[in-house]
Amino acid sequence: MTTPQPPAPGVADGPDPEGPATTAPAPGSANGQYHLTIDAPARASAQADTGPTASDEELGPTGRVNRPVPEPTPLDRHGPAVVVAVCNQKGGVGKTTSTINLGAALAEYGRRVLLVDLDPQGALSAGLGVPHHELDLTVHNVLVPPQVSVDDVLMSTRVDGLDLLPSNIDLSAAEIQLVNEVGREHTLARALHPVLDRYDYVLIDCQPSLGLLTVNALACADTVVIPMECEYFSLRGLALLTDTIDKVRDRLNPRLSLGGILMTMFDARTLHSREVMARVVEVFGDTVYDTVIARTVRFPETSVAGEPITSWAPKSGGATAYRSLAREVIDRTGRAG
Ligand SMILES: Nc1ncnc2c1ncn2[C@@H]1O[C@H](COP(=O)(O)OP(=O)(O)OP(=O)(O)O)[C@@H](O)[C@H]1O
Ligand SMILES: [Mg+2]
Repeated sequence: MTTPQPPAPGVADGPDPEGPATTAPAPGSANGQYHLTIDAPARASAQADTGPTASDEELGPTGRVNRPVPEPTPLDRHGPAVVVAVCNQKGGVGKTTSTINLGAALAEYGRRVLLVDLDPQGALSAGLGVPHHELDLTVHNVLVPPQVSVDDVLMSTRVDGLDLLPSNIDLSAAEIQLVNEVGREHTLARALHPVLDRYDYVLIDCQPSLGLLTVNALACADTVVIPMECEYFSLRGLALLTDTIDKVRDRLNPRLSLGGILMTMFDARTLHSREVMARVVEVFGDTVYDTVIARTVRFPETSVAGEPITSWAPKSGGATAYRSLAREVIDRTGRAG
């Protein structure tokens, strides 16, 4: 491993500041790191940015032809749930936004959905209009003794078929409180188990870390969705995340699969966004969802409104995109009907 260097034009990105991967290099990476080999920002922005060319028009934003995805049919019975961890230790990449809006879009397709707020910031709860600071019982109480049941904590939301296990700052103590528990990595799995039959999907919004709470999410998940911001440093730390997923699969949860990478905050007008997209698709191939979430101020607005974009601005591009993601998720998880 070389000394950290600032990225130079056409030169692979420097070592990951979040620490090296501890096992063999991950596929598509050198030295366990995924490298983003694109022109440096200064040079990229100096180039004429003419937007997508005419020949790109049949292609989706990932630069590929979109794969056909069937329209989900209504279900006549529900459960057992597919558990999805929405995870990336990088902050502000769209985990919470994606959990809320994917959940709401799945509910629009008639799926019963439980959202689990596993972040002490409580942004998922706030984003659904829940005054989480005032709650006496939160996900913290289902994890830490004296435990209460999930049914004592979960609440319905304004969206039909969408329930929430809220969180607030109390959860920040959980990692320390769980340290001496036997089977501490499976605490969330044990707590959720009694309600899995009632839902088609449980989506867990992870905090931006790979600590014990996130490991608990991975230990009870069937699949992981990784939201990734479409920007220059997006691949940094990804090797550490995929390495963690591999370790959890080996040691705690053999069912765990990498469900897909969701590119967020994409701006088709910039060469930069398109170059990052091309590189991520090159590294991760078909794992990258065809659905791409564009950068739009509508998402911050929905956080203020306290509701999903699918109900707040149902005809917006953002709502359409999360419905498209829901169809891909339903298809990939084999729950089309
Ligand atoms: N597609 C988008 N376009 C523009 N803004 C977005 C988009 N998606 C999310 N945002 C905004 O970016 C900010 C971070 O998003 P979000 O909270 O979903 O990320 P996160 O990964 O959950 O963050 P954290 O790591 O802090 O939990 C929020 O203000 C959100 O409204
Ligand atoms: Mg979040």
